Amino acid sequence: MVERAEGCTLHLDDGRTLIDAGGGAVAVNIGHGRSEVADAVAEATRRVSYVLPPWATEERVALAEVLRKRWLPEGLTRVGFTSGGSESVDTAVRLALAHHATSGRPERRKVIGRETSYHGLTMTALAVGGHRDRRSLFEHALADHPKMSMADAEDLEKVLWDEGPETVAAVIAEPVVGASAGALVPPDGWWSDVRSLCDEHGVLLIADEVMTGFGRTGKRFGVDHWDVVPDVLVGGKGLSGGYAPLGGVYTTEAVVAPIAASGEGLMFFTYSAHSAACAAGLATLRILEDEDLVAASAAKGVDLLGRLAGLAAHPAVTEVRGLGLMVGIELAGGPGSGLAGAVAAEAMSRGAWVYPAGDGNLPDALLLGPPFTITDGEMDEVVRIVTESVDAACGG
Ligand SMILES: Cc1ncc(COP(=O)(O)O)c(C=O)c1O
Repeated sequence: MVERAEGCTLHLDDGRTLIDAGGGAVAVNIGHGRSEVADAVAEATRRVSYVLPPWATEERVALAEVLRKRWLPEGLTRVGFTSGGSESVDTAVRLALAHHATSGRPERRKVIGRETSYHGLTMTALAVGGHRDRRSLFEHALADHPKMSMADAEDLEKVLWDEGPETVAAVIAEPVVGASAGALVPPDGWWSDVRSLCDEHGVLLIADEVMTGFGRTGKRFGVDHWDVVPDVLVGGKGLSGGYAPLGGVYTTEAVVAPIAASGEGLMFFTYSAHSAACAAGLATLRILEDEDLVAASAAKGVDLLGRLAGLAAHPAVTEVRGLGLMVGIELAGGPGSGLAGAVAAEAMSRGAWVYPAGDGNLPDALLLGPPFTITDGEMDEVVRIVTESVDAACGG
């Protein structure tokens, strides 16, 4: 039972504390217990508790403005909000299909994803993703969307030709693969090659920045590391830092134009763009900006990787990697070994939460995604606990 949370620390009702080294589900970018976010949510709720999502409220308009002016890559001027990552991915797929259908290309309905990837839990988000474990109960009922290999753009070209490019609506990928692989960074050139192939074949590129967005990788967005602008960018988690359920879909005028011209629109969810959640998003972005926390994520990420150098030499660890404060520790047990879960359980008993990643396709890994406000002392403690936990679960 978590009684309260502050900074990087969770206080349990039995008096114990846990360092939140996973940032919950890699969402808590600004740290816990920020009263200015709580106040903004309360004020928005007091003023307008609910109106239909397409109606304007101060918080909705202000959040869209700040995102356009200071956060989103150039050209991504159209903004829509949801209640989280899965809804946003689902919306991005509907957007891509609607774009092609209203452009007279209804045969473009496939979305190419990666063999190992996680895009969320709606039936469409599961179907375009490759998380073997999370798909397994529903495999028989999931729509058939093609998959490409993880890090080889030539394979995307092969899949495009195998499927027939004229049947493909979009490609979706995480800039740095999170839940299914543990901070797996693609080779340099991969994102720009994928961008070129999408352009060549009239396919929309969807970047799933639900985990990587809003500073997690040390830049505003993961794609910024490779100077690539997707046609659709999907966000969640870090936008509200865990303070409210909030996701977003950001796209270009060109993607929206044929849909608007057709007179069609995408239906909203009841709680899309909830004003209190938008207020949390605004207050979170203000803290990220005022405290220069994206730069902090970059610098502390390098620092954390340095501190983990000793663990990288551990016989049970095959790789330590990451970008910014999205750090993966790959374990030697092989795919589906369950080692990440075992190490995470050891870490919990020693006072830290780390996110067990891995989906049965790639080797298990631990994912560290602490708040960007993590202190030197807390980083030391996390490294000590994780090292002891790997020793305990895998043999020292
Ligand atoms: C890359 C990515 N996409 C989508 C999702 C789904 O987001 P949510 O759990 O908010 O629905 C996640 C969640 O971990 C994610 O990491």
